[in-house]
Amino acid sequence: MIMINPVFFEVHSNLPRQGPGNFEATRLAFSHLEMLPDRPRLLDVGCGPGMQTLDLARLTKGSIVAVDNHQPYVDRLSEKIQQSGLDDRVSVVCADMFDLPFAPGEFDVIWSEGAIYIIGFDRGLSQWRSLLKPGGYLAVSELTWLQPNPPEAVRSFWEEGYPAMRTMDENLAAIEENGYAIVDAFPLPESAWWDDYYSPLEQRISKLQRKYSSNAEALQVLDMERQEIDLYRRYSKFYGYVFYIAKLPA
Ligand SMILES: C[S@@+](CC[C@H](N)C(=O)[O-])C[C@H]1O[C@@H](n2cnc3c(N)ncnc32)[C@H](O)[C@@H]1O
Repeated sequence: MIMINPVFFEVHSNLPRQGPGNFEATRLAFSHLEMLPDRPRLLDVGCGPGMQTLDLARLTKGSIVAVDNHQPYVDRLSEKIQQSGLDDRVSVVCADMFDLPFAPGEFDVIWSEGAIYIIGFDRGLSQWRSLLKPGGYLAVSELTWLQPNPPEAVRSFWEEGYPAMRTMDENLAAIEENGYAIVDAFPLPESAWWDDYYSPLEQRISKLQRKYSSNAEALQVLDMERQEIDLYRRYSKFYGYVFYIAKLPA
């Protein structure tokens, strides 16, 4: 059995987001969903702490079901939904994205920020499709190569960390192969990596490096986390998150 060092959870708990993203990107992606019903039904897969769930609630009068398989995120988001007085139309469910407990054709929109990679881009496109109504939309963000021939340091890091990473053209082709029409695709700005994700993460790492200054194993985990951030600082033009917006035939 693989043992995950508990410091890993200490690094990642209670951060505003669990991946790059921001309100501007969510709003821009949402602006491409034309001709939605007045009160559409949305599914937010892999919602994590749920910042984008609450942002979506500001963008639509519809209902949103957010899903994550990590109970602490579900509990935390549930509290925020109550506090924001959104519980009449936003709910959160602890469930597995590989086996989503919903009826075929139940949703107008499937949303997933930084989480489709868990099931796999192609498998997510094909498996979640059945939950959409005809003419329904899928909007997902996915780590993507932005330029050819990345330097060796960045290529080898991601070859180990996320070997399934593809170019934008490859992902767009996969969208069409899975029976969707491409609506739009755009890279997230670098600020979407820093403001609510890497900057708070970096502060947390510094704090924990002081706390665990004599614990070699913990320091190794923290060092790996810092390496990923440093890599992005140096090589952000070679890879990034891209928002893909796709539509099923009506
Ligand atoms: C990189 S985070 C993105 C979270 C959030 N969308 C955000 O941008 O802050 C991926 C999320 O997927 C969730 N997750 C992992 N495996 C899952 C599964 N099998 N089913 C549902 N959610 C899962 C994790 O708990 C985590 O919250």
